[in-house]
Amino acid sequence: FPLTPFVDPLPLPRRLIAAEHGGELSVSIRSGAHSFHRDLPSSQVWGYEGTAPGPTIEVESGEQVRVRWRNELDGEFPVDVTIAPDEVDAEGVPVQCLPGLSGGTPDDNVSALSGYSVVHLHGGLTPAVYDGWTENLFAPGQDAYNTYPGKQRASMLWYHDHVMGVTRFNVYAGLAGLWIIRDERERELGLPEGGPYEVPLLLQDRNFGVGADGTLTGRLVHKTDPGVMEAFAPFTVVNGKVWPFLNVEPTTYRFRALNGSNARTFRLVLLRDGAPDHGRITQIGTDAGLLREPVEVPEDGLILASAERADLLVDFSDLPEGTVLTLYNTAGAPFDGAPFPAAEAEDAADLDAMLPFPQVMQFRVGPRVGPGEVKSQPVPHKLATDYVRVRDEELDGAPRRAIALVEREMAGMPNMLTMRELEAVGDGAESTESLVKISDGDDVTRYRSVAAHFEDTTTFFPMLGEYEIWQLINLTEDTHPIHVHLDPFQIVARRPITWSIPDGGIGDRDLTAEVTIGRGPDDGLDHGIDDNERGLKDTVRVNPNEIVEIAVRFHTYAGRFMYHCHILEHEDRDMMRPFVTMPMEL
Ligand code: C2O
Ligand code: CU
Repeated sequence: FPLTPFVDPLPLPRRLIAAEHGGELSVSIRSGAHSFHRDLPSSQVWGYEGTAPGPTIEVESGEQVRVRWRNELDGEFPVDVTIAPDEVDAEGVPVQCLPGLSGGTPDDNVSALSGYSVVHLHGGLTPAVYDGWTENLFAPGQDAYNTYPGKQRASMLWYHDHVMGVTRFNVYAGLAGLWIIRDERERELGLPEGGPYEVPLLLQDRNFGVGADGTLTGRLVHKTDPGVMEAFAPFTVVNGKVWPFLNVEPTTYRFRALNGSNARTFRLVLLRDGAPDHGRITQIGTDAGLLREPVEVPEDGLILASAERADLLVDFSDLPEGTVLTLYNTAGAPFDGAPFPAAEAEDAADLDAMLPFPQVMQFRVGPRVGPGEVKSQPVPHKLATDYVRVRDEELDGAPRRAIALVEREMAGMPNMLTMRELEAVGDGAESTESLVKISDGDDVTRYRSVAAHFEDTTTFFPMLGEYEIWQLINLTEDTHPIHVHLDPFQIVARRPITWSIPDGGIGDRDLTAEVTIGRGPDDGLDHGIDDNERGLKDTVRVNPNEIVEIAVRFHTYAGRFMYHCHILEHEDRDMMRPFVTMPMEL
């Protein structure tokens, strides 16, 4: 290993409890020195309060918080942006580009955005003016005062940078932190809260520079490999440390996990003495809070794509002192939903061969030091009681919006990813037009692509309080985690598709394609809804050869919001679109 695993204790981000500050917080955005690993020289990061991750902000449901975000960024961007492993200078140092200059992409102008910031509370029910609209930037020396009403159920959200075109760099540099909302329902369940048995796990991947002597420099590197759009980094970082360990007592822990990576998807399995230790982890909550019932994490692992969260109970009570458990990631990168064969892996060595560095972190069972006897906490059978699954009748006649996810090859530069908003056309459409033909059983609908880029005219005007069905149709080879701002949604269907795009079928805005819903190629995926996806979600994975339908209903605030792919390299290179929630029909 270029770095020794499991030598640093898991850090816990500082807690910032809003009530202790009368609901008025002031958070600086600035550079700071950070140690990612015992044996790495110190790194520069851009962090909230200068730390990576930023402080965990904790609020009570219904308690309004006002945050003064102070942009105090100065100096050089702390990350080297490189495009390919073979692009090194005479000393073997990776070629450095400025942010936005990653290999002569058309993003050259965005280096001018370096130092600007805008903060989004991911999963927050936040009025549009405070939601972190990607173009509402504030420069070094400027402040943003955002009010977060917090009128929402208990859940773990996160706050992160959202600057147009450079979100991937700003978040990678460290601009992300957790935000926990608590409420009475959760308290009634007696789950670990706030103390040593509730532990946040913010998972990310990071890469570092290599010095002339071949050792790691500690300098952050955002590297895009040739032919790949995303930046996957080899070192898994939890709460800001590479491959940490956590000493645990033989009792039940609650882990609040977030995948805060730019692009990497995790599929987490627990190994004990090198063998899968299945059945120890129960999931009780997802993006927007508690599930209705607990779900056992499946044998092939817990999948978390960028921005997805899982609230987990892990019972260590039966384990003798000295037991060591290791959390592994078995997901390939890029991720396409395929079940990576964790179950087939005989032992850790097998997994090692499949992924260069699959380890995430280690748990070491020690003696009980807390009060009480050694015992596990039973998992409550009934969790959430404040929402029900949307019923079919409620969706009768709901407007449908079809969105095709498309990857467009660009000569000599990274591919461009877009979400094409489709509008049904009547039979009158010219046969010469670019059309998307979608067959669902006997229904055949023809669509025209009416928007592709962020700056194209808004076509989505959902009415407050009304259900809509958004149909996310993946016409690419990879999984995209699609995130909708404002109210959470429910996943109502995931179905296989077969699709084809003729040569030249993907224009800058035009799209020609044929999609048949209901039957897909034999890709080994069942294309169904996972048990842990039956809660309230704000980010949903759309795998290749798949249509995912979500029931969205915006209750809260009228205004202009965004939805986008949460692979930040995709979001920045154009997989993001606006929508406007309306108090009345337009
Ligand atoms: Cu987590 Cu629009 O983002
Ligand atoms: Cu994507």
